[in-house]
Amino acid sequence: MVDVVLHYDVSDTRYVLKSTLYNVYLHTRSYGSHTLTQRDARAADRSIDDEDDEDDDAHRSTPISRRATDAMRATTTRTRTTTTPTTTTRAGTTTTCGTSVGRMMSGARRGGGRGGRDDDDATTTRGFSLFGGGKTSVDADEVRKNERECVLQTYGRGETEVMVRGKGCALFDAEGREFLDFTAGIAVNCLGHADEGVSRVIAEQAKTLTHTSNLYHTEPGATLARKLTATSFADKVFYCNSGTEANEGALKFARKYAQTRAVAAGKTANKAATETVSFENGFHGRTFGALSLTWKEGYRTPFAPLVPGNSFAPYGDLEQARRLIVKGKTCAVFVEPVQGEGGIYPADADFLRGLRKICDDADALLVYDEVQCGLGRTGKLWGHQLVEDAEPDLMTVAKPLANGLPIGAVLMKQKVADVMAPGDHGSTFAGGPLVCAAANEVFDRITAPGFLANVTARGEELKSAIATALADHPRLREVRGAGLLVGAQFDVPVGALVQACREDGLLVITAGAGDVLRLVPPLIVTSAEIQKAATIVAKRAREVVV
Ligand SMILES: Cc1ncc(COP(=O)(O)O)c(C=O)c1O
Repeated sequence: MVDVVLHYDVSDTRYVLKSTLYNVYLHTRSYGSHTLTQRDARAADRSIDDEDDEDDDAHRSTPISRRATDAMRATTTRTRTTTTPTTTTRAGTTTTCGTSVGRMMSGARRGGGRGGRDDDDATTTRGFSLFGGGKTSVDADEVRKNERECVLQTYGRGETEVMVRGKGCALFDAEGREFLDFTAGIAVNCLGHADEGVSRVIAEQAKTLTHTSNLYHTEPGATLARKLTATSFADKVFYCNSGTEANEGALKFARKYAQTRAVAAGKTANKAATETVSFENGFHGRTFGALSLTWKEGYRTPFAPLVPGNSFAPYGDLEQARRLIVKGKTCAVFVEPVQGEGGIYPADADFLRGLRKICDDADALLVYDEVQCGLGRTGKLWGHQLVEDAEPDLMTVAKPLANGLPIGAVLMKQKVADVMAPGDHGSTFAGGPLVCAAANEVFDRITAPGFLANVTARGEELKSAIATALADHPRLREVRGAGLLVGAQFDVPVGALVQACREDGLLVITAGAGDVLRLVPPLIVTSAEIQKAATIVAKRAREVVV
């Protein structure tokens, strides 16, 4: 029982009570996630050995030059473990959601550099080409041609790689090149690619029951909801299929909540609060409601008019927020506890606590968008748990929840759930047994003892390694983030750096106005992989960010 309390990093007695009940539930239902994890590790080891043999054969028979793979092989070792974290921490009071490592960190330790071993105990390091493969039967040119000619061109991928396979933090393209993936499908593949446990659960569920619609009960979604509510502020969960849908749902729930309250107070429904407030640089999705909350004008203007009534306040500016959040007019405030797409900005603790108070005073619902920063990414189970006393009324979750299968969820307090009735909202696919089975496995692994402490440790290591490696770069402004959501801000665009890193076998992306290098590796990333990434970033930044 103590394990569970430590493990969820909860300090609030309500959480302790919920966790205790949940623990009893776990034991009666015999989930035994920790035992499962150890079994998975043994299975993964066996499969690693199998893949090694395959891999060696592939290398011998493949004549093509693989710059990326060779660069990796020359300098990197890889930890062979399915994350066996050793430390567990208890929540402490924090003053900010994350920390910044500025350019003045002269005392920071220098990165391990070439061939550096990581500090994890009880692990074995080995060549980075562990899962490397040769050229595949996939015709990359044909794939690109079909995409170019038949798929709507909304992504601007151009002539980029055709990815065919992944393992852990590695991705492989059709030409046999290996990449160290510090994008994780844009903060999605939290357990890495082709995770043994997730793959097994998906295969088993696919053979049993994939879809029934929401006409019937199925077990995986009900079990997942029990876990999500037992470990958060929430009492109820609504499932959907993506982050943008989760925000659409939250918007509808907030409207209905305000309308119900207005009618209960003797007003007519059309006098209810309908407006929203969100924040500059925030990103909430691409469907109409979520797009209305999203800051970037380029995303919004081609599709105007959007859902009316949203105002943007500067992120972190409580005075402006207080001015815009008006009792009787504002039904909800949407905010990311750590802004992702907007440039990796962790919220100040006072900001989140202040918003909580302003929303209470204005009778508006506080909605945290944790689509990118939730579920372990920051080192806490939920990003807002970096700050005490700033719980939301609703929270939206998606990206990592099923490690790559499409799922979204809106978590809410009972007072919000109470206003929703059968028929008010729904989705054909949402909460289906296949995605929820995968999500149960993800959730059990993320909440296994020590996992989150390991994310915190690796996150600090990543921030420090990047800040150290770029310390004397004249264009660097700041390295910041929370957990394994890290951004390096330059004073020029870094598109060329992203491309250069890719040439050297490292996948990264931009954020903000294109001037922030975003590093979001799988949460199982090792120290060796972090050092490797920092080395590539530093080398290529010197060459192309001028
Ligand atoms: C914070 C945040 N909210 C919402 C979304 C939209 O999620 P989706 O792309 O799954 O619709 C994203 C996607 O990047 C996000 O980062």
